[in-house]
Amino acid sequence: GSAGAGAAGGSGSGSDKITMGFAQVGAESGWRTANTKSVQESAKKAGVELKFSDAQQKQENQIKAIRSYIQQKVDVIAFSPVVESGWDTVLKEAKNAKIPVILTDRAVDSADKSLYKTFLGSDFVEEGKKAGEWLVADSKSATDTVNIVEIQGTTGSAPANDRKEGFAEAIKSDPKLKVIASQSGDFTRSGGKQVMEAFLKNNADIDVVFAHNDDEGLGAIEAIEAAGKVPGKDIKIITIDAVKDGMTALSNGKINFIVECSPMLGDQLMELAKKVVAGESVPERVVTEETTFTQEQAKQVLATRPY
Ligand code: AHR
Repeated sequence: GSAGAGAAGGSGSGSDKITMGFAQVGAESGWRTANTKSVQESAKKAGVELKFSDAQQKQENQIKAIRSYIQQKVDVIAFSPVVESGWDTVLKEAKNAKIPVILTDRAVDSADKSLYKTFLGSDFVEEGKKAGEWLVADSKSATDTVNIVEIQGTTGSAPANDRKEGFAEAIKSDPKLKVIASQSGDFTRSGGKQVMEAFLKNNADIDVVFAHNDDEGLGAIEAIEAAGKVPGKDIKIITIDAVKDGMTALSNGKINFIVECSPMLGDQLMELAKKVVAGESVPERVVTEETTFTQEQAKQVLATRPY
């Protein structure tokens, strides 16, 4: 933080307060809302001046935001890339302008690792694996095929790619477990609902929904109930995130299992940003700690969940 006295708070020199440009994905989910709040509150606490933009899930908007942060000569750029590919050009522009970049939440697939300083966020493959492992255990006594439908996250995004991969890896040990349909619901509630409506129309016998986030699962619940079936019983539901609405549905028996993905990245992000701006070294990868929740566990923690 600033020593205060004498720092006129004017443009640039005289103040040691750092300025961060943050290019957010959008406001697609409860998770994203909690993440935005965490970043904004932590910036305030850490005395970091935050320039914030919402890309409405469009890569071109994020690229524009990053270019404007370069033009404004911010001290550090942080962003959560909506998709994995296509970032090299704009990241090179930041590098040429000597503005360090921190990836938060989602990764890029750039081969040149010097284009960013560090990546703070979850291990999405691990999350998908945990979802699959629960289903393998839950299906132990089943004798018939278990028909799974998958509602993927945003096409081309790191969490969609990685959760799909982790889940597939975990369930391949049991040939009874079969993914019969898989489609993107764009990480939104309305997307999850639409995709589930189509799945229900085209498949008479769905046993399990694996939704890549809570919001899609909550949308799927609406579609399942509208079709006269009981979510959590007739059709089991597994999701990822553990936001308030998801945890409520889990406590009520409408979801069967949730893998946690923590949106509370703000404090760690500000700490990393200060180090990077000060020229200190930081680990190239910081993985978020996460757990999982059964229905019973959700009931116990619901009242104290902060988001
Ligand atoms: O990148 C994290 C994912 O993005 C969350 O799981 C999802 O809810 C969000 O939209």
